Amino acid sequence: MGKVQKIDSKEAGLEIGLYFFKYFLKSEYLHYGYFNNGLPTDIQNLAKAQQNYADFLISQIPSDVKSILDVGCGSGKFAQQLLDKGYEVECVSPGTLLTQYVKNLVGNRSEVHNCKFEDYNSNKKFDMILFSESFQYIPMKDTLDGFQKFVRKGGYMMVCDFFKNDPDNKSLLGGGHQYKEWTDILAKYPYKMLADKDITKETAPTIDLVNGMTQEVIFPLWKTLFALGEDRFPLVMKFIKWKYQAKIEKMERKHFTGSRTGENFINYKKYMFYLFQN
Ligand SMILES: C[S@@+](CC[C@H](N)C(=O)[O-])C[C@H]1O[C@@H](n2cnc3c(N)ncnc32)[C@H](O)[C@@H]1O
Repeated sequence: MGKVQKIDSKEAGLEIGLYFFKYFLKSEYLHYGYFNNGLPTDIQNLAKAQQNYADFLISQIPSDVKSILDVGCGSGKFAQQLLDKGYEVECVSPGTLLTQYVKNLVGNRSEVHNCKFEDYNSNKKFDMILFSESFQYIPMKDTLDGFQKFVRKGGYMMVCDFFKNDPDNKSLLGGGHQYKEWTDILAKYPYKMLADKDITKETAPTIDLVNGMTQEVIFPLWKTLFALGEDRFPLVMKFIKWKYQAKIEKMERKHFTGSRTGENFINYKKYMFYLFQN
């Protein structure tokens, strides 16, 4: 039996991203930036673009929505904004570390369910269920069934996330359900699609910015630390390289070869905004 891992590596990645964004960019959001209205692709504009994304979602909330289940609420920043606007919000947050962050941010204004959406249960019916860049982490059937189960008749599901538009899995960019599988499964449900908007081009600059940060900051840091380790602890480093060679090579291929570009994102992904009614 494999070793039980208490902390999920994706959650740890999100948590690291959050502290990094918070300190350097003054942003607590964990979603992509929405570079609309000619906003230049510049790291200094990422926080503004992330706020644009949040504002765009808020502008699309139907006027008869009062209660929202925010699934995969990240840092809780978006939930906090919804609360400030007068919505009644509950959150679903599976990770231990991020959930603590959410609780600190929203206090007792929102109930925070510390579980995966697949394990969430309640008799409560919300006006809207929201998946803002959390959709890709959850099996699609659970999402669509959950819409039926946790939202009142005539209520809504908002999904904003990217899909793989890459049937042969050629891209080194990870994440996203296959778009074709999504449209196939969606066709089996009776939900009404009120809006669908392709925002791939407006979100792709985020990848160029993250790529720039990786190439120009994280990669040099990584190389320096590795060289320092080899100089000071040659035997330990020799062991690490021998034991984890395949993992290190995979990680370097994925993050440091410069292939995570906005152009590749446009070629291999499809970032979609949807609003459904049941
Ligand atoms: C990229 S962040 C998006 C955060 C936030 N919604 C936003 O727009 O800034 C992805 C979120 O999905 C959550 N998540 C991952 N797997 C999940 C699951 N199975 N059920 C519910 N949430 C999940 C993560 O904990 C994280 O909060």
